[in-house]
Amino acid sequence: MRTIAVVNQKGGCGKSITAINLSGFLAHERRRVLLVDMDPQGHATLGLSREPGQLPKSIYDVFVRDNGGPFTRLSDVTRSVSKNLDVAPSDIFLSAAPEKLAAVPGRENILADALDEVHSQYDYVVIDCPPNVGLLTFNALKACSEAIVPMDPSFFSLHGIGKLLETVDVLARQTGHQIAARVLITLYSGRTQFAKDVVAQIHEHLAGRHFDTIIRYSVKLAEAASHGLPIVNYCRHCAGFDDYRAFAAEVLQQEAGTVAGASLTAEEIRAGEPEDLSRPSPPTPTPEGVIFSIEAPDAGRVQLVGDFNEWALDGNEMKPAGRIWRTVLKLRPGRYQYRYVVDGCWLSDPLNSNIESAPYGGHNSVLVLDEQHTE
Ligand SMILES: Nc1ncnc2c1ncn2[C@@H]1O[C@H](COP(=O)(O)OP(=O)(O)OP(=O)(O)O)[C@@H](O)[C@H]1O
Ligand SMILES: [Mg+2]
Repeated sequence: MRTIAVVNQKGGCGKSITAINLSGFLAHERRRVLLVDMDPQGHATLGLSREPGQLPKSIYDVFVRDNGGPFTRLSDVTRSVSKNLDVAPSDIFLSAAPEKLAAVPGRENILADALDEVHSQYDYVVIDCPPNVGLLTFNALKACSEAIVPMDPSFFSLHGIGKLLETVDVLARQTGHQIAARVLITLYSGRTQFAKDVVAQIHEHLAGRHFDTIIRYSVKLAEAASHGLPIVNYCRHCAGFDDYRAFAAEVLQQEAGTVAGASLTAEEIRAGEPEDLSRPSPPTPTPEGVIFSIEAPDAGRVQLVGDFNEWALDGNEMKPAGRIWRTVLKLRPGRYQYRYVVDGCWLSDPLNSNIESAPYGGHNSVLVLDEQHTE
């Protein structure tokens, strides 16, 4: 399952339109898609609702358990939009969630945990974010491994983009959670020299961090959304159709790029199906990230800590699959120290002979990743 957040704290730059139409085309290409609406404005929800009305349940219920009521799972709120496309809807009530969760530990991982439960049901999760970097956006960033940053070619866009990429980098430094973030130019009119200059600057400054497709201004996109339809189901002869189709093809092409040559996909790791996964191994780099595993059949809880996540226990849980606990981390080239924490007991990796004395006693395991491991 690929989890992609559509994020930019700047308002009105085409996040929701991108989330809706990327989802529409991916579903059209027979991928099973869930669009998660993390914006209290509910624009992605409305843009996929032919008959809008009050929601019986929404993403708010997954986040907040009011009055000691039962837990709501993501699958309780998702609803089918069309073949291969589901939406986890939101509405204005979601705006109350950050305040209600202010004292709840682990509140930034609620979406990631909820998505874990549905990973076998979808090929893609596309998350539409609100226009700010608060708890809701942070949840989306923690849950995703890729981010699309729509950007309209205006003066303020260029200013904000550095900030956003900084947020992504800070997150990576603080939590070891790496996100491949790329800019998508939207609402392009091409008529003004200014727009052309901005695009040239984006291409120059963000080499390798932008999509090749440029989304042109197309009034049909707004029209389709107002009818509750993705453009693929609304109008096939307009720039909006051509551009989002090309964009979805670009996203799918990366899928081919990541899956081909991958010795092991994250999906396989989670499912724990292949036979060689029934044994633990020293940290193993794959195109999906580095696989960490340890055998701990009787443990109730295992965490992975290291200098890549500042040795923080919170949010660094490993997942059990039979006797083995696993996790996959995207790491940059470098030298890392780490330990497994099995039911509170800090252990060096029994399968890794590369160890170093730790300042507070015992040994840390050492992992060295060079360029070729992380490509
Ligand atoms: N390529 C496009 N051509 C024409 N209109 C567009 C295009 N993309 C978006 N729009 C329109 O521009 C407005 C803003 O788009 P959208 O709602 O997708 O932005 P957003 O970033 O999600 O906004 P917000 O930050 O408020 O959530 C909407 O009215 C939408 O219909
Ligand atoms: Mg929006």
